[in-house]
Amino acid sequence: MRRTRILAALGAAALLVGTAACGTDDESTSGSDNTGDTTSATEVEVFTWWTAGSEALGLEQLQGVLTEKYPDVEFINGGITQGGGSGKDLLQTRLAAGQPPDTFQVHAGKEAQDYIDAGQVEDVTDLYEKFGLNGVFPQDLIDMLTQDGKIYTIPSNVHRANVLWAAIPVLEAAGLPTDNAYFASVDDFIAALEKIKTATPDIVPLSVGGTWCQVHLLETILIAELGAEGYNGLFDGSTDWNGANVTTALTKFAKLMSFTNIDRDSFDWEPPMQMLLDGKAAFNVMGDWVPALLDSNDLVAGTDYLYAPSPGTEGIYDFLADSFSRTVGAPHKAGAEAWLDVISSVEGQTAFNKVKGSIPARTDIDLSSFSEYQQSAADSFKSDAIVGSIQHGAAATIQQGNATNDAVSKFTTSSMDADALAALQAALAAAYAG
Ligand code: GAL
Repeated sequence: MRRTRILAALGAAALLVGTAACGTDDESTSGSDNTGDTTSATEVEVFTWWTAGSEALGLEQLQGVLTEKYPDVEFINGGITQGGGSGKDLLQTRLAAGQPPDTFQVHAGKEAQDYIDAGQVEDVTDLYEKFGLNGVFPQDLIDMLTQDGKIYTIPSNVHRANVLWAAIPVLEAAGLPTDNAYFASVDDFIAALEKIKTATPDIVPLSVGGTWCQVHLLETILIAELGAEGYNGLFDGSTDWNGANVTTALTKFAKLMSFTNIDRDSFDWEPPMQMLLDGKAAFNVMGDWVPALLDSNDLVAGTDYLYAPSPGTEGIYDFLADSFSRTVGAPHKAGAEAWLDVISSVEGQTAFNKVKGSIPARTDIDLSSFSEYQQSAADSFKSDAIVGSIQHGAAATIQQGNATNDAVSKFTTSSMDADALAALQAALAAAYAG
């Protein structure tokens, strides 16, 4: 694979840490299904939005490990087809109706706190002890899942949201450099998009999906314009959502949207990414669940596609992590416990993350057989300034995320003029007030 300056920008040094597999099967004790004893588990319903492409493949890996470790446990896929967490409404409906899945995907941070506050996830501190998990995750991550000294979910992986993906043949056709897709500023990026539009009018300069993908793009622009500290301040009141730098970010977001595909609103993240593979679009900003899709199409980083921190965000890691619950009222507690054993084990996190594109949440896994991208992401995660994703629940509560999605959708389906922009900014300020 041709090395590029993009790889250097993300930091290509491998993170090599010793393996420390922790066996847990023999720790199971006897008891009934409802007491959460894994030996009596018969089935587990798992709710995620990993239903397509590389995400479904990742889930399949976990299912495989479940079958190996717990052959008597039937895996029931309660998945929904709306990626990026945009289908969480259905989960809320099931929880409210008293029909909870045994375990569900939940983002670390504000989103996890929501489920804790609502009393919908059980305290699983005992499982950290039982499965030998104390000390294997970054403490900052555990803090995002903890309340009053009790830990409520178990993390499976860490993703980076602020990544720019570029199709090399499309850049070549437009006469743009193909050895460095890193843009130091959003303005530089806009200039490149202009060039693509002029040189190759049939190509979509920046592909994007529906509302959640647009919010995802917007958060990376806020990070670029406000910097790590300014962006983090949006969530603790120290940065004013009504401020001029937020207006500038929203103005640049509107400009970026003018370079995107008009059929965007009907898509999840994969069809717009497919446009890059098909040579129909040049760039896309999306989290690092992307590489598995590219790799499964036999595309090679540095030859067929480039990746880099999204424009203006070098040195900043827009963080999100998936974790899993043992749901209050779960019909199959023992199954949920078996699942939590699987997703937290060295074996489970290795098999899953290799396919998913994320890095293991565990810090004791040897990454030398992971992709070069993943090794670089692990390195960046250790050295970059960390900020939390809005769309993916680290920085925003479910309510704030929903309000953000509503405001952005209203904006991007309008003429995006000055009045609409002012309304967007006011709606965001209201969503995060107090
Ligand atoms: C995120 C989730 C990732 C990935 C992505 C795209 O919210 O944390 O694991 O699934 O959505 O669907």
